[in-house]
Amino acid sequence: MSTTFQIDTSTSRANPTPAPMKRLTVPRIRARKTNGKVDEPIVMLTAYTARQAQLLDAHCDILLVGDSLGQVIYGLPSTVPVTLEMMANHGAAVVRGSYHSVVIVDLPFGSYEASPEKAFESASQLVKATGAAGVKLEGGKAMAETISFITQRGIPVMGHVGLTPQAVNVLGGYAARGRTDAEAETILNDARALDDAGAFAIVVEGVMEPIAVEVTKTVACPTIGIGGSAKCDGQVLVTEDMLGMFERVPRFVKRYGNIAASIQDAARAYADEVRTRQFPSEEQIYLPK
Ligand code: KIV
Repeated sequence: MSTTFQIDTSTSRANPTPAPMKRLTVPRIRARKTNGKVDEPIVMLTAYTARQAQLLDAHCDILLVGDSLGQVIYGLPSTVPVTLEMMANHGAAVVRGSYHSVVIVDLPFGSYEASPEKAFESASQLVKATGAAGVKLEGGKAMAETISFITQRGIPVMGHVGLTPQAVNVLGGYAARGRTDAEAETILNDARALDDAGAFAIVVEGVMEPIAVEVTKTVACPTIGIGGSAKCDGQVLVTEDMLGMFERVPRFVKRYGNIAASIQDAARAYADEVRTRQFPSEEQIYLPK
């Protein structure tokens, strides 16, 4: 699978020229786990923009348009204020920028909890507006009926258990979950309920490692860990976290880049050259013949 980039002279921006390929599908992702094991771990990263999707696409199985965009893109204090409109706009951009990965869009807080019908209305709005293959929603047992309702009506659903950031006001923060036996049991039962309801995969976020292992052994569908376990069936990170965009590095993040420093260095060099009239030079201006 390869995607090359060409300069589109009308926009002077790089546009991808995909080699003929078929986009992965949700059934193919689901089928990666058979008899309790995946052939190869599933690779998922978040993406919020078309260009980011272009750059990540060839390396991923799933691009998640996460509601973490509330904090990462919009500077909001949590994911709670994120709207369907934001998810639709960024979801459409990511679908436009990708050719290979399955694109899944988060249902934002308040758009699905009230009833299965409300959830289907929001999910269908998102898949129509974006072209994404499915949606993700947070919550355990209480969301099982909703997952079954949406899935049976044609929209694949990824579940999300453990630390569920949209519930920050109930949880009181973002600390890892499952420190007591009772909490561990609840997380396991939540994951079982979502699996039985037809979730095609389940994100297991911020839990004690043995719980992520137990969930992965117990459910038939693939688990995608974040602050979970290396034994999960796949892994996800917020792309900006792993690229080193932020100073704060949560325990579950590994940095694979230092993009914040690169941006600052470039901005500093540009500012110096503007102030000293080194930029633009003759190479960047139009001279009459
Ligand atoms: O919103 C998000 O980015 C997520 C992932 C971190 C799983 O839900």
